[in-house]
Amino acid sequence: MRVALLFNARPMQTPDSLPEDWYEEYDKPETIAAVAFALEGIGARVTPLPFDRCLPRKLDEGSYDFVFNIAEGHGRRCREAVPAAICELLGIPYTGSDPLTLALTLDKWLARRAVSPEVPVARAAKIESDADVPALETILYPAIVKPNDEGSSKGIRSDSVVSDAGEAADLCRRLRESYGCPVLVEEFLPGTEVTVGMAGNGKSTRLLGMMEVAPADENEQFVYSVEVKRDWRNRVRYYVPPRIDQGARKEVERLAMTAYVLLGCRDIARIDFRFDGNGRPRFLECNPLPGLDPDNSDIVLLSKRDIAYDHLVQGILLAAAGRNGVSLS
Ligand SMILES: Nc1ncnc2c1ncn2[C@@H]1O[C@H](COP(=O)(O)OP(=O)(O)O)[C@@H](O)[C@H]1O
Ligand SMILES: [Mg+2]
Repeated sequence: MRVALLFNARPMQTPDSLPEDWYEEYDKPETIAAVAFALEGIGARVTPLPFDRCLPRKLDEGSYDFVFNIAEGHGRRCREAVPAAICELLGIPYTGSDPLTLALTLDKWLARRAVSPEVPVARAAKIESDADVPALETILYPAIVKPNDEGSSKGIRSDSVVSDAGEAADLCRRLRESYGCPVLVEEFLPGTEVTVGMAGNGKSTRLLGMMEVAPADENEQFVYSVEVKRDWRNRVRYYVPPRIDQGARKEVERLAMTAYVLLGCRDIARIDFRFDGNGRPRFLECNPLPGLDPDNSDIVLLSKRDIAYDHLVQGILLAAAGRNGVSLS
């Protein structure tokens, strides 16, 4: 089977005009090579194709049987939907969620609205323009201020936790200017952070694993910020399974399954939760294109006790092939 591997490569340099974490969600060459190697292990003939303006033509002329999609696209909240939409245009089956789910989940505000009330979320305000600033008075502080249409902790730093509406308004203005998107101000959830891997479709949807993400220094107020993620070896401890009781684990599993279905996820996704001050889990966001870095992506870490990296990657293609009624031979 001929498989096109769609990706966005991480540039070596970020222009001074952009925030320095602008390319954080794009893949390193090592990740693209590791995914290709895993797919070749089940007989796929893999051609890596970068996401650019030539992609539709290259895909159309390449006689590919399938697309393995890890491309994040360019632009704002629809960017992740574009590579999948190109596959739809050309009628080539592809791994992962469809454009609607990819766009919906990249807009954190809309994703929260789609999953709640079945899956609880923290109270929040979306600030798109100065006219929205009064909404900052409707939530309780401390709160966290994050770009609404970003991922990989872009724009989330140690100073993203604010203690009142005035500080929130200042940070919203700065984030809107630098990231060019609305900002989500969400009540700060002080409890344990858990991320959940989900895989499969329909009746064979299953939990891949669940992992607590905790600070190496337990006295620190933890935010899995871009600086902390980059320095994960020193600043983060990962616990599989999470250090929460079995009842809480079951509840998070049920909520993750519900969110996966409500958001229309396919083949794979990683869903982040955090516990509030009363010990109740709250949905943060869903990642239907989870990072697949073999060394440090959360979905790899949370599943590696049970699933080797190559099997994890192969499982995505197998799930997508099964969904499309395509044989891998
Ligand atoms: N409401 C919140 N309360 C406490 N921490 C939060 C909250 N929202 C986000 N965070 C912290 O910021 C990190 C990144 O936020 P998240 O919403 O998952 O965005 P991203 O798409 O960038 O991963 C989370 O892993 C968590 O540590
Ligand atoms: Mg996250």
